[in-house]
Amino acid sequence: MMSVLLLLVAAYLLGSIPFALVSSRLFGLQDPRSYGSGNPGATNVLRSGNKAAAAVTLIGDCVKGWVAVSIALKLGFTAPEAALAGFAAFLGHVFTVFLRFNGGKGVATALGVLAGIDWRIALACLAAWLLIAAASRYSSAGSLGAAIVSPIAGYLLLGANPVIAVLLAMSAVLIWRHTANIQRLLAGTEGQLGSSKKG
Ligand code: G3P
Repeated sequence: MMSVLLLLVAAYLLGSIPFALVSSRLFGLQDPRSYGSGNPGATNVLRSGNKAAAAVTLIGDCVKGWVAVSIALKLGFTAPEAALAGFAAFLGHVFTVFLRFNGGKGVATALGVLAGIDWRIALACLAAWLLIAAASRYSSAGSLGAAIVSPIAGYLLLGANPVIAVLLAMSAVLIWRHTANIQRLLAGTEGQLGSSKKG
């Protein structure tokens, strides 16, 4: 029991590393919380115009979710425990201790967690994101679509499995974190992909 708790705390701390801020500092950019949507995430870093910084953010945030699940599995934890470790990393990203518990929306980290659990679920979500984002030009719409696909793909691929509860919880938090995006999408004021810092 103690080792599961340690695993969750370690995964939370790993997930707390805010790669949007790390990469922005590396590339000499403004704090992403000061422009665009204000979200410390890859989509918003892209609004700075620096694609490399956005890519580093995306990869860093994604890999930390994947690492949390993969290391848990390597250490011999069960699949549901490893999925919980992924969820802890996801919560670390969203409620990061390094940014006064006000982090990102969790999309890239969730993708990494899904890749650690089952790459087919991650692939289904990535496909949903790419299709919706390409058609609408809204990153947030892609993320919301992928959040809906995640537990459905999980259920179709894994059946009734405790891991599905983690997928549902992750999608619920992710959708909740997009409340402002949903309001802007409905109002027609959401910034599209390729828009500038003000978008
Ligand atoms: O990755 C988060 C994305 O779904 C929305 O980002 O900056 O447009 O709120 P943003």
